[in-house]
Amino acid sequence: MPAEPQTSAIPTDPTARAARVDELRRQLERANYEYYILDNPTLSDADYDALLRELRAIEEADPELVTPDSPTQRVGAQVPSAGFAAHRHPRPMLSLANARNAEELAAWEKRAHNILPDATFTYVGELKIDGLAMALTYERGRLVMGATRGDGIEGEDVTANVRVVHDIPHTLTGDDIPERVEIRGEIYMPASSFERLNEEMSAEAAKRVNDDGTSPAAKLYANPRNSAAGSLRQKDWRMTKGRNLHFFAYQIGYVEGQPEPTSQVEALARIRAWGFVVNPNVQVLPTLDDAAAYCLEWQGRRFELDYEIDGCVIKISDRHQQEELGVVARDPRWAIAYKFPPIQATTVLREIRVNIGRTGTLNPYAVLDPVNIGGVTVKHATLHNEEDIQRKDLRIGDTVLLQRAGDVIPQIVKPILEKRPLDGEGNPVAPQYALPRVCPSCGAPVRKDEEEVMAYCTNDMAHCPAQTLEWLRHYVSRGAMDIMGVGEEVCAALYAADLVHDPADLYHLTADDLATLEGFKAKRIANALKSIEESKQRPLGKLLFALGIRHVGEKVARIVADRFGDIDVLLAASQDEIADIPGVGPIIGESLHTWLANDEHRALIERLRAAGLRMTADQSAPIPVGPLTGQSFILTGRLEHQTRPQAEAALAALGGTIASSVSKTLSHLIAGADAGSKL
Ligand code: IVH
Repeated sequence: MPAEPQTSAIPTDPTARAARVDELRRQLERANYEYYILDNPTLSDADYDALLRELRAIEEADPELVTPDSPTQRVGAQVPSAGFAAHRHPRPMLSLANARNAEELAAWEKRAHNILPDATFTYVGELKIDGLAMALTYERGRLVMGATRGDGIEGEDVTANVRVVHDIPHTLTGDDIPERVEIRGEIYMPASSFERLNEEMSAEAAKRVNDDGTSPAAKLYANPRNSAAGSLRQKDWRMTKGRNLHFFAYQIGYVEGQPEPTSQVEALARIRAWGFVVNPNVQVLPTLDDAAAYCLEWQGRRFELDYEIDGCVIKISDRHQQEELGVVARDPRWAIAYKFPPIQATTVLREIRVNIGRTGTLNPYAVLDPVNIGGVTVKHATLHNEEDIQRKDLRIGDTVLLQRAGDVIPQIVKPILEKRPLDGEGNPVAPQYALPRVCPSCGAPVRKDEEEVMAYCTNDMAHCPAQTLEWLRHYVSRGAMDIMGVGEEVCAALYAADLVHDPADLYHLTADDLATLEGFKAKRIANALKSIEESKQRPLGKLLFALGIRHVGEKVARIVADRFGDIDVLLAASQDEIADIPGVGPIIGESLHTWLANDEHRALIERLRAAGLRMTADQSAPIPVGPLTGQSFILTGRLEHQTRPQAEAALAALGGTIASSVSKTLSHLIAGADAGSKL
């Protein structure tokens, strides 16, 4: 569990305490307004929670200070914003108390048992969808009202917009349609749609040009939740329709003309029967240990989903028990939100530095004021490329919203424009970012082609120190020549000691050379020399990949090697002969042919050959080359004429590869009957 965020000490002086309460309420109200009305928060969830916790602590210590309109007593923002009619909820839309770990879950159960000492509870575990709470009213099965939560008492009538949300039925199905029913749930935008929308919006902004030739900063959404909220609260429902919004139903607000459900389990069954989508990961949990395990499981798996969840909700299923437990302030005692550690935070962008990649790409990255996200201190974030920085309009000194997704390196979502440092005339202090014109490692000019997103150092990898080092590291890496005894750090040491400047130099290293490196004793030296020697037997495909030729990945290298069989046949091949191989194509063909035609590269190949490298293909396990080479497939569901393994074998025989999971690079998804989540 991450460390508890710091809560400030409660002021002892009553005047100071009252002033602090005022200040906290002001900040929280501002944050609520930005979050719920503007859909544009400038405070991270973690910072918001910390302020709310502090306010609650002071109010608990000094109940005199509690007021009915304190943010601790209300949910969300108070005013329905202009443009939508107000809708008063027949039953208030409640919020949930939070638990951040198993102990706090246990404390929640204990509080329930204090009220119902003899009860046995059955729990329902649900995902806490990070979307927008909705109340949908159906009269005799027809949708008549869709309302936002608002402050829990009064929300906004967004019926027209709700009608264009996927998964919200206009009429209920089944034969048990009540006179009137209110279904509650969450509208959300899939994470992939959110990313696409932000990309589109920043591309739009980049097309517009200010007087000074720069582009205006795009107002980007901070996260899928804000994106869903902003998309839903459009004045024109046609705008909403263009956004990919979905709905998970999780509660019956009230029902008239038929008995209320006796449990959450039954409520969900009815909701499903009426034609709603209930989240498929709902689970009935017999004990609190099961509930804790459910929460931990989803904390680890949250990034598998294409929608954001910020926790789990554990509900006591039985309705009688729910009623007896009742509500305190704004939270029912029968349910609790297990909140995951936040994955977003704000910090300051101090500097943009550039790394040079193996193929000469200039890879900008951000240097940040260190900040804790989900228990990890983050100091750097990747920035992809110049265009990306300019699209987001990131400037040095900006306060930025930072996000971690799974194990992935943190990303900067957007600058917080409201906090941008401005000069006396209201212009940004920092200029728009531009990449350096010369390589920071070797000083060679930088080239960027129109059709490419990346900029490159124009020097060859053998002559740009940063590239050379990456090249050596790549050469020895697994998947390439796999020289176990010479790792990344050893490469750097060998290069720094002037012992190795290109891969061929590795094969001339002596025990005496290695003995000069720190930490190299007899055993380690012997290991290194042995693994260097063994690498000479790697097949041609591995070597071609290891040479680090632009666009020549592991798979392409193997396809080319298998096709030509031998380095000399490849060296004699024309560009077209290479490009014509299925799965290769003109871009790779040109890159590979040009590389091989270069005199220095030929000399390198000859030195490698002289060192005893094998340079022939591994014919024992050729990848079939065929019309489907270079294309990837996933099969899901039941096929009509073949089993899945049969179909997969047939695709592989034609050169296709069978992928293990759906990703951006997947070219085909073949779905049969009853296809699963992959579809
Ligand atoms: S139950 C009284 N179930 O989380 C119960 N809420 O912080 C209130 N939410 O207002 C809602 N997923 O907007 C419930 N499976 C789920 C939920 C869920 C997301 C949201 C909802 C609620 C907020 C509470």
